[in-house]
Amino acid sequence: MKFVLKNYGCQMNVNTADKIRGRLVSNGWTECTDGENPDAVIFNTCCVRNTAEQKILSHIAVAGRQKQANKKMLIAVIGCMGEKDRNKLQKTRPYIDIVLGTDNPESIADIICERFAPLVPSIPAAHPKSHTKPKNKTDIVYIDITYGCENYCSYCIVPFVRGKLRCRPAADITAEFMTVKDTAKTIFLLGQNVNEYFDPEAKTDFADLLSALCKIPGSFKINFLSSHPKDFDEKIIRVIAENEQIQRDIHLPLQSGCDKILRLMNRKYTVAEYEQKVARLRECVPGVHITTDIICGFPTETEDDFAATVETVKRIAFNAAYIFPYSRRSGTGADGMDGQVPHAVKKARTTELIAAVREMSLQRKRK
Ligand code: 5AD
Ligand code: SF4
Repeated sequence: MKFVLKNYGCQMNVNTADKIRGRLVSNGWTECTDGENPDAVIFNTCCVRNTAEQKILSHIAVAGRQKQANKKMLIAVIGCMGEKDRNKLQKTRPYIDIVLGTDNPESIADIICERFAPLVPSIPAAHPKSHTKPKNKTDIVYIDITYGCENYCSYCIVPFVRGKLRCRPAADITAEFMTVKDTAKTIFLLGQNVNEYFDPEAKTDFADLLSALCKIPGSFKINFLSSHPKDFDEKIIRVIAENEQIQRDIHLPLQSGCDKILRLMNRKYTVAEYEQKVARLRECVPGVHITTDIICGFPTETEDDFAATVETVKRIAFNAAYIFPYSRRSGTGADGMDGQVPHAVKKARTTELIAAVREMSLQRKRK
């Protein structure tokens, strides 16, 4: 059996895709390209922004046309769009065979395998490896430490599609870590907000977990995604400072450089608090690279609010910034807010901020 796995969105999806791939391969499947007549095409989807959704829908439509020539080809749509739009997808695109949500990747792979069970009677069920083994020491391996999120940032769809915060037991994370630490160069700990990690049994928070993993002998590096400034505290900064194995690349999404917008976003920190944390991080971890995410054109954002964001971004002098136009997500708090910003204004502000960040990084390079 041959499969194509198309992955979209965040690092958590990369990890899910790796696990599905690993499970399918250990069940005798081979990964192939679109042109090689796959038996299954799997879309691991993202719905954080509308642009991502539209792109994925157009790719699904292409697979639908491919299926007309290859009627037995299975099309599976999994992940956040599957969770959010299960009924709509099946109704409007009857050529999709399987729609699944964000449940555990192994069971998703098994469901896909089961569809072909009569053709592949010898699926080995016992202890398939969940990870695609890294090919060489340069590879990155991802380990989930939390699932879901309950922060309800008002623009964000994630709490609605990924459910409540669940933290994996520290012992499970450590066991998984041990299986990859000698073959991976960098091990990423993943969660929507890893800083909120807490295992009540082991009384282990995120800083404790990081610290414990750093004590394991080996030549690996550790990184993590994503952090939330409200929970990124002194204890975490200290652990980073004290452990060279932790990469000096910290992604700390600011989202807006204007306190009024941060409040409406339900982010629970001010620009000043964010800047204090960055200052502390730079003081304790010399040479740290700090990257961020910014949303332009959130409801009610005025020209002055946006100018405050541009100024803040320049003042903080991020090493890189990922800038997105605000995308309305149905059911989120911000979708119901008055003062939606016109599409053209969101786009213009995004372009302006990208240019400002580019100019900043050019200046840094010249220096
Ligand atoms: N519109 C635009 N950007 C968004 N993000 C999350 N939700 C939205 C949205 N509705 C961005 C945030 C987040 C990143 C992963 O995606 O900046 O940090
Ligand atoms: Fe979304 Fe906020 Fe949760 Fe991140 S912390 S996933 S932005 S709700």
